[in-house]
Amino acid sequence: MSKGTFYITTPIYYPSDKLHIGHTYCTVATDAIARYRRMCGYDVMFLTGTDEHGQKIEEKAMAAGVDPQTFVDNIVEGPGGIRALWKLMNISNDRFIRTTDDYHVSAIQKIFKKMYDKGDIYKGAYKGLYCTPCESFWTESQLVGGKCPDCGREVHYAEEEAYFFRLSAYADRVQALLETPGFLEPASRVNEMINNFIKPGLEDLCVSRTTFTWGVPVEFDPGHVVYVWVDALSNYITALGYCNDKYDDYDKYWPADVHIVGKEIVRFHSIIWPAMLMSLELPLPKKIFGHGWLLLEGGKMSKSKGNVVDPVLLAKRYGVDALRFFLLREFPFGSDGNFSNEALIARINSDLANDLGNLVSRTVAMVLKYFDGTLPEERQEAPEDGELKSMVLALRDIYEANMETYALQGALMEVFKVVSRANKYIDETCPWILARDEANRARLATVMYNLLETIRVCVSLLTPFIPESCGKIFEQIGAGPKDTTWDKANVFGALPANVTVRRGEALFPRIDMAKELEELEKLTAAPKSQVEEELEKGAGLIDINEFGKVELRVGLITQCEPVKKSDKLLKLQVDLGTEKRQIVSGISQWYSPGNLIGKKVIVVANLKPAKLRGVESQGMILAADVGEAAKVIFCDDDTPVGAKVR
Ligand code: MSP
Repeated sequence: MSKGTFYITTPIYYPSDKLHIGHTYCTVATDAIARYRRMCGYDVMFLTGTDEHGQKIEEKAMAAGVDPQTFVDNIVEGPGGIRALWKLMNISNDRFIRTTDDYHVSAIQKIFKKMYDKGDIYKGAYKGLYCTPCESFWTESQLVGGKCPDCGREVHYAEEEAYFFRLSAYADRVQALLETPGFLEPASRVNEMINNFIKPGLEDLCVSRTTFTWGVPVEFDPGHVVYVWVDALSNYITALGYCNDKYDDYDKYWPADVHIVGKEIVRFHSIIWPAMLMSLELPLPKKIFGHGWLLLEGGKMSKSKGNVVDPVLLAKRYGVDALRFFLLREFPFGSDGNFSNEALIARINSDLANDLGNLVSRTVAMVLKYFDGTLPEERQEAPEDGELKSMVLALRDIYEANMETYALQGALMEVFKVVSRANKYIDETCPWILARDEANRARLATVMYNLLETIRVCVSLLTPFIPESCGKIFEQIGAGPKDTTWDKANVFGALPANVTVRRGEALFPRIDMAKELEELEKLTAAPKSQVEEELEKGAGLIDINEFGKVELRVGLITQCEPVKKSDKLLKLQVDLGTEKRQIVSGISQWYSPGNLIGKKVIVVANLKPAKLRGVESQGMILAADVGEAAKVIFCDDDTPVGAKVR
């Protein structure tokens, strides 16, 4: 029977760059909580998605030379994109929202209009300090050392006609909400919000922009687009069908049981979002949980600092579960933690390979060796079984208390105390000595059974964290789905007395720390640019005559189409004035034909022809490397076709 509904969300991610281990941490944690609730018998709705509008995305798309929709489609849906990452990480979200989805866009227009009709949104002029990467306006007093308090980057003065949301009108109600025990956790974040934002006086919030277009247009004033945070926060209700017909489970799941968010966006979730809901006269979320950051060498990871850790590389190397486990076991969920390769490997070796992996493989191997895989039914208890059994029986309640308070690390530590106790129990009972005498058969079977039961309970409780491995362990210890439920996790004796085990693969092989650290270093070192490599080789410089050998000309792209069966190549027809050329270029990830036809580009005109995917290419067009993208160098319209470039 269902224990009721449980609605849990992650933030929706910006598809501006590839996601890194910090984003993965947030999603994996939410996934473990969602899986835990399902295991307990809740009807869970787990929502994640992408936050695709705003100036930052528009600028990134422009830099990459593509329209914003093509840009975000690629990062969200493309190979190696956000959806693929969540699939790889075994994320069990029930729904995925993109803020560019039509139903969301029209719902935002209705939400904005409702607040406007209510008198909570009015037109004014914004003058202030703006941080472009964070898409946030700041007051002078909020800056830290004159810089953006969130990201530490430069802010600039900005002024524009804009709509404002009467946030100030909700200050008292928001403060009371923040002070409600359990609304914002960890509790330490409450004072931070009250002291930094409420006490200095909540100012009305600028909720529209006119300086860029990549956003939801305000329906009744189309020069304005809705502020990206109003658009983004509303995802939590539009994804349930609020103001749209796409879904119809708003009444079932709203209000959210918990929004899991990183600490830097607690402000938006615990102040602005409740005030918006108050204005819309909707129920408020029950809890905001602000988790800490994963730091690298003490600082925040960011693409611009070039210190991001790639979750795909680590998951592929050590296994998805090993990475999931490390993230949730190593760091207390509410605090910051320092990521390091060394900590990752040490944790895999100690907990997964040594403790859990060994317990399972030793137990299964002994049941196979001493009983051909199937336990006899006779039993002989002994006093030394008592402590292990009582620890197993007490585990579910302790684990539950931790999980209910989002102490994910604590829950895992409790399980591993029992795993370690079971390993010690093997050493105490010495099954290899019992096996020497047939008279000990019942005692040996009892020891084995106690170990299998301990594994069953521990692994049932580990399932939300490392689901795939747990499934494999259940197979090895002969536990079926009815033996691994929440209800059976505080029972000792659920497995049949004559249980049969199966040999399985080693789940968590031990990693050679020194060798692996060296390998990882090589794999994660930033690739040298071509210029750096050339300079290192001492071959960096050419003379003017060598440069003169390259014939560069201005060309006009007259036609363009994708090369069949290639997701990278475009076939261009280029007019060089005196002749026409066909050029194949690997830029289709960033450009659509519509962005290129009619544009003037620089062509390397004396390159030997080559065939790419069977299509002849008679030259090359110049493009700049921008991160992983290519940005074609375009010439002004008045540059004559065929002109020589020197
Ligand atoms: N788009 C907004 C959220 C809108 S929710 C209505 C956003 N996106 S984000 O992609 O920048 O970040 C998404 C989440 O990832 C945030 O909760 C953020 O805290 C988290 N993390 C990003 N880097 C992180 C670490 N290094 N460590 C832990 N979490 C991190 O904010």
